[in-house]
Amino acid sequence: MAKQDKEATENKSNAKNTNGKAANNRKNGNDSEDTNNTSMKNQNEEQYEGSDQKDSPLYKFFLSGLKDMLYAENKLVDALVEMEEAATTEELKDAFEDHHLVTKKHVSRLKKVFALLNEKEEEKECKAILGLLDEAKEIIKSTEEGTVTRDVALIIAAQKLEHYEIASYGGLAQLAITMDMDKVADLLERTLEEEEATDVYLTEIAEGSINMEADEEDY
Ligand SMILES: [Fe+2]
Repeated sequence: MAKQDKEATENKSNAKNTNGKAANNRKNGNDSEDTNNTSMKNQNEEQYEGSDQKDSPLYKFFLSGLKDMLYAENKLVDALVEMEEAATTEELKDAFEDHHLVTKKHVSRLKKVFALLNEKEEEKECKAILGLLDEAKEIIKSTEEGTVTRDVALIIAAQKLEHYEIASYGGLAQLAITMDMDKVADLLERTLEEEEATDVYLTEIAEGSINMEADEEDY
């Protein structure tokens, strides 16, 4: 069996375990991004991931999805600063500040994906994210500054954004697995897990305190 075919077969059989591998690396405190950088270099020197699939409609669709996400993440980097400024409670301000930093990491991770694929970093306008961000801006305008009700609304707006990202990264990571792009899949899954963790944390702060405080707010 040719080396490339053998690797493809091994990748396919390992694909199902990609989630587990990524989770284990994190559990062991082994942030494999540095490792990825080194192996990415070696990979790039030899062969780009997906290089034999570049003309396929599925790969083109996948690439377009990555460009969509690069656009979305860059918009979110700016929007999260505005959302942090608009939030009332320190808890939510901190959550938005943290996610702003995490979102910057998502941008650089996407850039690594483009590099792994030997593709130009390009953005494609994402109408969904623009609509969701318009909604977030509308919420800021329509709720009173300094109220916890504003935070309730901002959390829901942020979770709608998260769910768009979760759906997108989930789908793209699975496509990367299908097309035997292990390293790309791993990077996308790391971002997916961070988006999911943010979503869970937003639910926790809403249900743990912010919703109740808003309910007790004077009117
Ligand atoms: Fe993100």
